[in-house]
Amino acid sequence: MKGIVFTELLEMIEDQYGYGLVDSLLTESNLPSGGVYTAIGTYDHAEMITLVDKLSLKTQLPVPDLLRIYGRYMFRSFTRGYRPFVDRVDSAFALLQSVHHHVHVEVRKLYPDAELPHFTVEQPSENHLTMRYESERKLSDFAHGLIEGCLSHFGETATITKRNLVDDGSIVLFDIVKT
Ligand code: HEM
Repeated sequence: MKGIVFTELLEMIEDQYGYGLVDSLLTESNLPSGGVYTAIGTYDHAEMITLVDKLSLKTQLPVPDLLRIYGRYMFRSFTRGYRPFVDRVDSAFALLQSVHHHVHVEVRKLYPDAELPHFTVEQPSENHLTMRYESERKLSDFAHGLIEGCLSHFGETATITKRNLVDDGSIVLFDIVKT
């Protein structure tokens, strides 16, 4: 995974719990990278899971909740770091529809080694979007948070229903209905 995923995660933890917790997570986690991340570097995605697992032990919050909170935080960071992708559309559904065939395509051009999920998006009606997430990294809770962050960025609200199409969480269907 790209370093930005790690630097933003550590920043979020620092914002919410203070640097002391970041420091103890890094020293206790025995990470191959040593916990030193640069935004353009690439690191094993297992390190993210290690950090979130440890964070869950320390905060008593379940891992899926933490990944979702982190997804919401990450979307806000994308609106700053990748502003043009967000500004070229005027609604959450337009952005969600452009993630796979535009945004992540551009991300891949910038970082050929980026590890990106596969999305199949359909819009059965004006207020209804479905997103089928597929990734061996099984980060659908992170995707859930990114979808929520996207809706909130555009001042929209929706009911999001998430259903595993494969038990291990590698294929997940999101049903998003605007309210
Ligand atoms: C401006 C908007 C966005 C930008 C710039 C962006 C960019 C990125 C980048 C840089 C990564 C890290 C790749 C790596 O670590 O190798 C990533 C991963 C990911 N993105 Fe996006 N993304 C955006 C929006 C979204 C949205 C709205 C969703 C959800 C619907 C999404 C779903 C994901 C997921 C789930 C991953 C984790 C990798 C995986 O599950 O396999 N992204 N994205």
